[in-house]
Amino acid sequence: MKKNMEKIVGWAKRKGFIYPGSDIYGGFGNSYTYGPYGVEMKNNLKTTWWKMFVNDRADMVGIDGGILLHPKTWKASGHVDTFNDPMVDCKKCQARHRADHLIEDALDIKSADGMSCEEISQKIKNNQIKCPKCGATELTEARQFNLMFETQMAKTGEDSTAYLRPETAQAIFLEFKNVIDTTRVKVPFGIGQIGKAFRNEITPGNFIFRVLEFEQMEIEYFVHESEWEEHFDKWVSAMYDWCECIGLDRQKIHELDVDGEALAHYSKKTIDFEYEFPFGIKELYGCAYRTNFDLNNHEKASGKKLTYRDPQTNEVYLPHVIEPTFGVDRSILAIICEAYDEEELDDGATRTVMHFNTRMAPVKVAVLPLMKKDGLPEKAKAIQQQCQCFGNTEYDEGGAIGKRYRRQDEIGTPVCITVDYDTLEDESVTVRDRDTMKQDRIKISDLVDYLATKYFKKNLNA
Ligand code: GAP
Repeated sequence: MKKNMEKIVGWAKRKGFIYPGSDIYGGFGNSYTYGPYGVEMKNNLKTTWWKMFVNDRADMVGIDGGILLHPKTWKASGHVDTFNDPMVDCKKCQARHRADHLIEDALDIKSADGMSCEEISQKIKNNQIKCPKCGATELTEARQFNLMFETQMAKTGEDSTAYLRPETAQAIFLEFKNVIDTTRVKVPFGIGQIGKAFRNEITPGNFIFRVLEFEQMEIEYFVHESEWEEHFDKWVSAMYDWCECIGLDRQKIHELDVDGEALAHYSKKTIDFEYEFPFGIKELYGCAYRTNFDLNNHEKASGKKLTYRDPQTNEVYLPHVIEPTFGVDRSILAIICEAYDEEELDDGATRTVMHFNTRMAPVKVAVLPLMKKDGLPEKAKAIQQQCQCFGNTEYDEGGAIGKRYRRQDEIGTPVCITVDYDTLEDESVTVRDRDTMKQDRIKISDLVDYLATKYFKKNLNA
């Protein structure tokens, strides 16, 4: 089935996953709100990531740094001077466009990333590239636009400008020495962090793919320079394991070895993980070799030593860094696109079903009493309580049972449990599988074991 973004966006709103932000005021800057099911899924994603990359590894610890960091951070990191995208304005309709994307789309080239403003302006002129909004060819010269959001601190001083962090990574570099001094980590080791980042994107779009406010899950992994390649390869492989763990099809993930001018200012090597979204093959994650660029620059700018002494060899050095970075929102979008399905049924009807894996599903088990009376609700609620060991559950007693199944299919609940009149006699329930729609009759006393083995074993052991 060809996936269609319009349908997916409509589904996300209708089913309480993702609403357009500030909708009652007509929306605001391509922002979004995660609804009750969306936030459950996002939490599943973040806790799975934290467990896999922080808790389950002896060589990892975590931090939770600030969104506002000392402004000198961003000068030292290179973001004040180089965290730019080229833009052009349409002189006729005043629309603003990302200039490299304009060229990519008009000339059908894979990436214009890294072209200078002069080259871009020349290409726009030579090819008579038009404003995608109004069709005019009167575009301004391309110029660089810094993507950091500025804010003013109330405290007066020589400069009250601060920035909302455009990446979570920098707090990790600022706390590198504190982590070394207060924990028992030894190089090679990593620091993980999950949190919001902000970018004043010129052309946000494609639903939650490119937004101004988003979340990142980032790891800065500190190694001896001589070992960077070996660790880089291990992290690339770990990132594939992660994609599998959240239910993405490996065949839909493509590696892009980012070259030359397109590399971020801090990187010597970057592999982008691209995913086959319905709107094209686009960046999902990245793994970068940041050398000792950041620690070196912060050491120089702060005047504080950030070196590490190897306890065995006594070598004192600035570790180099491998950075696997994962966008939360792009993960959610990929998971949704992967899971979305419309199935033709034998009776000619179409069923929309989300094939989320049990880790990511926002509701793990739904318990449905056949009727709202005769003791069935009480029985169903007791069973729901038992099933809470698997995570978030739902109880639904309204409407025809077929409709209730469909509703759960649409939000991707892996299992529905139906409590009927026979339950009161034989202490058994019907367990319905989302994907096959097959139904099994299971004794209530065996239910938790049955569900654990068939659906949730991997989750519980993960
Ligand atoms: N610390 C490295 C770093 O920030 P990046 O490639 O600029 O690298 C990392 O961003 C990830 O953050 C991307 O791979 C993507 O998943 C996510 N991301 C970046 N910009 C985004 C945006 N405007 N909206 C949503 N996600 C974004």
